[in-house]
Amino acid sequence: MSRPARSGGAASGGGGGDASGFLRAVGVTREYRDGERTLRVLKGIDLCISRGEVVAVVGPSGAGKSTLLHILGALDRPTGGQVLLDDVSVYSLPDRARARMRCERVGFVFQMYHLMPEFSALENVMLPAMVDSGARAAARAGACGRRAGALLTDVGLAERSHHRPSTLSGGEQQRVAIARALMNNPEVLIADEPTGNLDEVAGAEVLSILWRLNEGSGQTIILATHDRELAELADRVVVLQDGAVTGERAGGSASERRGYVNT
Ligand SMILES: Nc1ncnc2c1ncn2[C@@H]1O[C@H](COP(=O)(O)OP(=O)(O)OP(=O)(O)O)[C@@H](O)[C@H]1O
Ligand SMILES: [Mg+2]
Repeated sequence: MSRPARSGGAASGGGGGDASGFLRAVGVTREYRDGERTLRVLKGIDLCISRGEVVAVVGPSGAGKSTLLHILGALDRPTGGQVLLDDVSVYSLPDRARARMRCERVGFVFQMYHLMPEFSALENVMLPAMVDSGARAAARAGACGRRAGALLTDVGLAERSHHRPSTLSGGEQQRVAIARALMNNPEVLIADEPTGNLDEVAGAEVLSILWRLNEGSGQTIILATHDRELAELADRVVVLQDGAVTGERAGGSASERRGYVNT
């Protein structure tokens, strides 16, 4: 399948000034108070991500990767600066509208999966679609169940639908988490060290799902990783050090990722 058309892509580079950017950070800062001290965790991040782009954020532990991903995904509020999704200032939205936007447009995958232990794989995948009022959710439950089942089939877990997370391997749990992140068909998938807890084989399975998504439906993917090989497969690698972007480079290509999927 050919790669979807892009408004920018790797060649457009970073910086907050690219008006074609689908997701942009403009002068984003994040500070924490520690008694008398102020910890400056993000020090003015400008980043411009195009629709359909795969961006890897790399850098040493403590550089601010997770903090940045959370802010890009409307999960945490920056101390200063803006995040723009399709030119809408995410943190200017009232809390409810921002929560809705996040639920509908952003999917998250975390290193530790964060599945609900008391629910089955299928129920976990359905959760993002069930946050509506009870009545509406109930009316949609049939369709939700079918979609969740199809997503679990896509990630190779049709046979595990009724398993609870504790009875799944780490790689299987992460595949459930990816299916959950995709439940509402989000425009952007944000993955914080999605393979960080997995061995090579399970990690490769997870990555092949992510690459297939990007290749097949042009899913925008932003991931933080310590895995150099994985980072170099992204369209663009953004280097974060001590809360600042200190470098950017072109990474791999769709065909290199395709090769990865096929090996
Ligand atoms: N709630 C908090 N309160 C105070 N400091 C915090 C808080 N959350 C994160 N930090 C600090 O912010 C810095 C960046 O943390 P972050 O988790 O974003 O780093 P990271 O690049 O994701 O690291 P890793 O590779 O280890 O996951 C760290 O120094 C961390 O201690
Ligand atoms: Mg982190």
